[in-house]
Amino acid sequence: MSALLPALATGELTRTNEKINVALIYGSIREGRYCDTVANWACAQVRKHPQFALEIVDPAKLSLQPQLDRKENVDLNVLRACLDRADAFIVITPEYNHGYPAPLKHLIDSVSREWQAKPLAFVSYGGVSGGLRAVEQLRQVFGELHVATMRNSVSFANAWEQFDERGHLFAPARAEKSMEMMLAQLHWWAGALKDARCSIPYGIVAT
Ligand SMILES: Cc1cc2nc3c(=O)[nH]c(=O)nc-3n(C[C@H](O)[C@H](O)[C@H](O)COP(=O)(O)O)c2cc1C
Repeated sequence: MSALLPALATGELTRTNEKINVALIYGSIREGRYCDTVANWACAQVRKHPQFALEIVDPAKLSLQPQLDRKENVDLNVLRACLDRADAFIVITPEYNHGYPAPLKHLIDSVSREWQAKPLAFVSYGGVSGGLRAVEQLRQVFGELHVATMRNSVSFANAWEQFDERGHLFAPARAEKSMEMMLAQLHWWAGALKDARCSIPYGIVAT
């Protein structure tokens, strides 16, 4: 077990001791997507920690305007409200042609201010690269949105060989340890940036 886990479990890493709202975002909308398996695993890891309150953002269940015209739209408002509530984000992304999936980019581009001055962590999956090329590209995208991406990530190379048919990892130790480290970083940043946003609204400097 990670040495960080007891600290995280007792809330010692947060100044406010308030729950950290985490929006976990699915990167794939494909029918039969593997994203469900990876996201279910990630959700289970987050739920081990009572300091996090989890909300799921699934672009497959949202009808977002392709024109990005920001016209009033029920699903866009749902997305906006969910991301606004979030203190931190976790993106579950596969890799498509050495990049990130288009529906994920569409979701990212559909909102703006709601991302700002918040931390984001990645869980990726794919073939030999484990989705890491998609992650590195997403770091650039999120930089433009004033998002702080976590240095540590969790990745599953040849993911379909790592989970059994019930969605359990054959060898969970390494991934769980990586996830613990990443969640500890996310928790630290989420608390720090939440306090900072309360002290000084970030909109003043976000142009
Ligand atoms: C259009 C497409 C392109 C892909 N390109 C890559 C790739 O460049 N690198 C890789 O590791 N896997 C690649 N894959 C394999 C996917 O990572 C794998 O199918 C994964 O399960 C996709 O996630 P999903 O099932 O949740 O949509 C690709 C899959 C698709 C559908």
